[in-house]
Order: sequence, then structure tokens, then C-alpha cells
Amino acid sequence: VPIRLRHAEPADYPPIIRVVDEWWGHRAMADMLPRLFFVHFQSTSFVAVDEEEDGRVVGFVVGFVSQTDPGQAYVHFVGVDPGYRGRGVGQSLYRRFFSAARGLGCREVLAVTSPVNRGSIAFHLAMGFAALPGDAAHDDVPVATDYDGRGGSRVRFRHALTDDDLAIKG
Ligand SMILES: CC(C)(COP(=O)(O)OP(=O)(O)OC[C@H]1O[C@@H](n2cnc3c(N)ncnc32)[C@H](O)[C@@H]1OP(=O)(O)O)[C@@H](O)C(=O)NCCC(=O)NCCS
Repeated sequence: VPIRLRHAEPADYPPIIRVVDEWWGHRAMADMLPRLFFVHFQSTSFVAVDEEEDGRVVGFVVGFVSQTDPGQAYVHFVGVDPGYRGRGVGQSLYRRFFSAARGLGCREVLAVTSPVNRGSIAFHLAMGFAALPGDAAHDDVPVATDYDGRGGSRVRFRHALTDDDLAIKG
């Protein structure tokens, strides 16, 4: 598959924001993905492009290094075009993010997802994340209730980075 990864740029924002709700199964996600990631967090944000489709963006990951604890990196959004799922694009994006985070001195990556997003939970577990303890459970997955927004529950994930993550350039 002629998929290439590169850092995100501001010009990637309009085509991504047009499809983000659709990629999330028509959930209203666009308001939670501000342009600032493509402007101010380029060193920890990546897009996957299909060279055979004129460089069309078919996946992205946006995140940052914590200002509070520079040993922690945080993934805000990761998404792959439904037509490109199940062939390692999400994994490649995460490996590239892990490598960048390790290179910036991070020792762990954090992320949160909705308890209803079974695909995201399975993906994070497959990528080596573990769910952090919560105050409730949803289908045996620990959940932090009243965590984000208007009472939204979240599964909180953590993945420890090692020096091996530096070697991966996926
Ligand atoms: C989650 C998502 C990014 C995965 O992207 P992807 O390119 O299909 O993932 P990959 O093909 O790289 O899969 C990597 C691993 O995760 C597993 N996985 C991915 N999606 C899965 C799913 N829906 N159910 C079960 N396992 C899944 C794969 O089996 C694979 O595991 P393996 O290496 O043991 O075989 C993609 O499904 C997506 O964009 N979903 C909608 C947006 C979203 O919910 N994002 C996450 C919350 S911010």
C-alpha cells in the first residue's frame, strides 16, 4: 500500500475537518478537533497520505507533550478513513507518534476514549495501552465517570514507552 506518513500541516485541517464526523460513525466530533493541533503541535501530529490518490489524507494522529509533566505525551485524536482500516495505518501512525514522543524525552503516552467506542478500546489495547482504574465499569472496562464535557465518561489509557520505540520509524 503506497501510504506515507509525514508531519501534519495547517493545510491538512480543512479536508480532515470535513470528514471527521463521518470517520467517527457520524458522531459530532468536529468541535472537539480545533485547528490549533495543525498549527501549534506539528512535532507530535502526523498524517498518513495515499500517494496513489494525489496525497489524499487517509489517517491522522494529533497530540502533544504535557506542559505539566514533560515525561508524558497525550494523544487527542487518531482516525483512519473507513476504507483504509484494518491494514495497519492506525498502528503506523501510533508508532510514529511513540517514536516522536520518545525522542522528545517522554516515558509514557496517555489517551482517553468513550466507553461506547469499542473499536477504539480494542485498538488501544492492541497498541499496548492498559486502561487506568476508574470509578465504574462498562463491559468490564474501567471507566472514569463525569470526566469530560457535560458529565461524559471516559476510558483512560496509558502506554509505557521504551527505547525500542525510538527505533521505530513506521
Ligand atoms: C481506531 C482506528 C484509528 C484504528 O485504525 P486502523 O488503521 O483500522 O487500525 P490498524 O489496522 O492499524 O489496527 C491495529 C491493531 O488494532 C486492532 N484494531 C483496530 N481496530 C479494531 C476494531 N475496530 N476492533 C478490534 N480490533 C481493532 C487491529 O486488530 C490491530 O491489532 P493487531 O495488530 O493485533 O492485528 C480506526 O478504526 C478509526 O479511525 N476509528 C474511528 C475513529 C476513532 O474512534 N478513533 C479513536 C478515538 S480518538
